[in-house]
Amino acid sequence: MNQMFLSSWNNGDSSVPPSYVQLPENRPGKVLSSSHEAIPVIDLGGGDRAHITQQILKASEEYGFFQVINHGVSQDLMDQTLNIFKEFHAMPPQDKVNECSKDPEGSFKIYTSGENYKKISIHFWKDSLVHPCPPSGENLHYWPQKPSNYREIVGSYTREMNKLSLEILEIMCEGLGLEARYFCGELSENPSVASHIYPPCPEPSLTLGVSRHRDPTIITILLQDKEVEGLQVLKNGEWIGVYPIPNAFVVNIGLLLQIISNGRLVGVEHRAVTNSRIARTSVVYFVYPSFESIIEPAQALIKGNNTQPIYKSITCREFRTNFYQKGPKVEEDLQ
Ligand code: OGA
Ligand code: NI
Repeated sequence: MNQMFLSSWNNGDSSVPPSYVQLPENRPGKVLSSSHEAIPVIDLGGGDRAHITQQILKASEEYGFFQVINHGVSQDLMDQTLNIFKEFHAMPPQDKVNECSKDPEGSFKIYTSGENYKKISIHFWKDSLVHPCPPSGENLHYWPQKPSNYREIVGSYTREMNKLSLEILEIMCEGLGLEARYFCGELSENPSVASHIYPPCPEPSLTLGVSRHRDPTIITILLQDKEVEGLQVLKNGEWIGVYPIPNAFVVNIGLLLQIISNGRLVGVEHRAVTNSRIARTSVVYFVYPSFESIIEPAQALIKGNNTQPIYKSITCREFRTNFYQKGPKVEEDLQ
């Protein structure tokens, strides 16, 4: 059992096992310094709405990523949430498995490396926990009860994330020319929360925490550990570091929003690298539609702009299945 999670067996060895060594072309390599290019930081608390809208649209078109500050979520809750997930990852392996086994449908997952550990021969330097967190609270009785205040803290946090994600999506709608509440129903009904831990790694230059990927979501909101770098975003063929800003959230466009916006907003590749100094924890809120939702370019954008849809329709369920089976190029099949 101790072999199962990286955070349990990682014992300060000076090298990584061969199965964690990435192919040379996938290793971290060079990162652009922040003075060259930086992910835009958007102040949601100040300034006029039109300016905020324009900044969010521009960042979503050019980077597919931005950070938000003055977003209204309390610092206390952000700290408590990071801490509760750190406590979770520090629990004995059997407790972690038990706490994620209450749902008979198996929608609560705890795993090392990636969800498809067995299929991928080169492993990633992380452990993850992920589970649905519908705003209706309908699955709360399956949530972990250890650490003891998990349900209370993660429940408050995911309610705040639901509010914040809908606020951000409403601003995007204004910018795109969609009805303000376009995403408020089934398109945001089935969110998940995840937490990754990237333990200190003896050879960061050979390993990756998460391989390059795009998110199969509407949007994703990520809270990263203070002062620990790791997240990188691809821009013009180069990797840009997303530097942790105290109190900020990182927001990125998912492939589903790329389809709905008919390619105007972009789901951009990103990855996480490791470091030898200190463990890094992230908390990720994924905005997903209900499985039955039809994903297609929004009618208002097609008719309103007198353009052709560049993607075919697909149900969210089919999209998510294809994404896990075919990998990240899935939306190209819809063109
Ligand atoms: C993800 C992701 C990055 C991170 O979970 O999709 O990109 O920094 N995570 O943990
Ligand atoms: Ni991601």
